[in-house]
Amino acid sequence: MSNDLGVLFSPYTLNKLQLANRIVMAPMTREFSPDGIPGDDVAAYYRRRAEGGTGLIITEGTTINDPVASMGENIPVFHGEQALAGWQHVVNEVHAAGGKIFPQLWHTGTARNPAKMKNSDVPSASPSGLQAPGKKVSEPLTVKEIEHLIASFAAAAADAQRLGFDGIEIHGAHGYLIDQFFWEGLNQRTDAFGGSMENRGRFAVEIIKASRAATGPDFPIVLRYSQWKQQDFEARLAETPELLEQFLAPLVEAGVDAFHCSTRRYWEPEFAGSDLNLAGWTKKLTGKTAITVGSVGLDADFIGAIAMQESSGTRAIDDLLERLDKGEFDLVAIGRALLQDAQWPRKLREGRLDEVESFDAKSLASLA
Ligand SMILES: Cc1cc2nc3c(=O)[nH]c(=O)nc-3n(C[C@H](O)[C@H](O)[C@H](O)COP(=O)(O)O)c2cc1C
Repeated sequence: MSNDLGVLFSPYTLNKLQLANRIVMAPMTREFSPDGIPGDDVAAYYRRRAEGGTGLIITEGTTINDPVASMGENIPVFHGEQALAGWQHVVNEVHAAGGKIFPQLWHTGTARNPAKMKNSDVPSASPSGLQAPGKKVSEPLTVKEIEHLIASFAAAAADAQRLGFDGIEIHGAHGYLIDQFFWEGLNQRTDAFGGSMENRGRFAVEIIKASRAATGPDFPIVLRYSQWKQQDFEARLAETPELLEQFLAPLVEAGVDAFHCSTRRYWEPEFAGSDLNLAGWTKKLTGKTAITVGSVGLDADFIGAIAMQESSGTRAIDDLLERLDKGEFDLVAIGRALLQDAQWPRKLREGRLDEVESFDAKSLASLA
């Protein structure tokens, strides 16, 4: 077994960052940070994943400095002295265990439910004030407000670097703020931030450029994106490889190092006529590092799991290893399997498959 797994445990260089293997912990919101401050339990949780052999940890989404960025009082924020001190402790613990870690920088846009927040009277931010196609909940952001948000992402990138994080991931997926700009269904602007594919990508492009300028050429910057949206699982940003290329090219130009291509099942072909998945296409079209994700080691996608409705069995990973070996993608993100079992990489590597814990949605209730 361990020979076949060799490719998964081979080192990889992202920008100038050396990763011990190809296993990435996928960002997973846990809501165990009261008032947005990550505590010792959060640091210990990430340290256990580093000790278990995860090559790169991407933290749960953590929100930039904007009053309406977050969607829960227990979601960690990425601004303010106390929260950043908490994150400093997380970085130190992960590094002490030999791991690498990026924060996932997030703004939830109109996916936020104001009623769940202390500042419920402040309207949510989005390109056109829409929460779902046709469902208006607030006013469109002004250009000045957009510029403030771009600066806020860049400030978070600079803070990440200052605290010793090894890079950042910008959350541009799943129908949250950045994706609300990407997606025609929620972006009806007629200015430079809406309309064409290029214009809908401008918010992300400006965030990447500003983050790059704030951190220099060697700091790894990953952009996570998805075709699917929480508002519509069937939505697509790009219906063809040509459109996907149009979407990706300006992001590459802006200075992104890698794309984290969020799919719910990694084995699904992205476009008819080819077996390549979204990460495969992204790598082929851009030449950039591509991270795949979606039910690795599991046999069901994660939407039911978030709703605490289902557990998930395991799926053989031979096909994944073959594709990694062929270079379809470079890194493999693991969500629920790592949430369940911090020792997943080590157990796999040592052939202790019978000891791998199967994902059980009940695990979401604690920070083990
Ligand atoms: C509890 C939970 C929380 C999640 N939170 C985030 C998040 O904060 N940011 C994000 O980009 N994706 C989030 N996701 C999606 C995961 O990063 C990942 O893409 C998904 O779980 C599929 O991977 P898996 O099948 O290996 O679990 C979350 C998933 C789960 C199960």
